[in-house]
Amino acid sequence: MKLILSSLFLVLSAANALILDNPPAAGWASGETVTEHWQTRPADPAHFTLTLESYASRGNHALIAIVETAPGSVTFTVPDVSAGDYVLNAVNMTDDNDIYAQTAPFAISQ
Ligand SMILES: *[C@@H]1O[C@H](CO)[C@@H](O)[C@H](O)[C@H]1NC(C)=O
Repeated sequence: MKLILSSLFLVLSAANALILDNPPAAGWASGETVTEHWQTRPADPAHFTLTLESYASRGNHALIAIVETAPGSVTFTVPDVSAGDYVLNAVNMTDDNDIYAQTAPFAISQ
């Protein structure tokens, strides 16, 4: 019975989490102006920090923006980073390790 309850809880929490849309399959280019969208759920925090993290060297990330959750999108300039694979993270504003959502890996070209 315990097992059934905890799997149900997992399903419910997944349905209540912020979802970051994946960047286009073609990826982005450094310096390009892009818009990232996300889908919100009622229990989401009012703000979060959007970071860009290198997929090859995890933990190496750049701040993109501190955003309000409600509008569902933010437009920004892709930072000048080395070409490679990256993910976007939506993280707690006061704790980078508290990740709310993450995109699939995507390429950034120069
Ligand atoms: C963000 O992290 C802080 C510090 O760990 C915590 O107190 C707070 O509840 C977190 N906020 C959310 C919305 O999870």
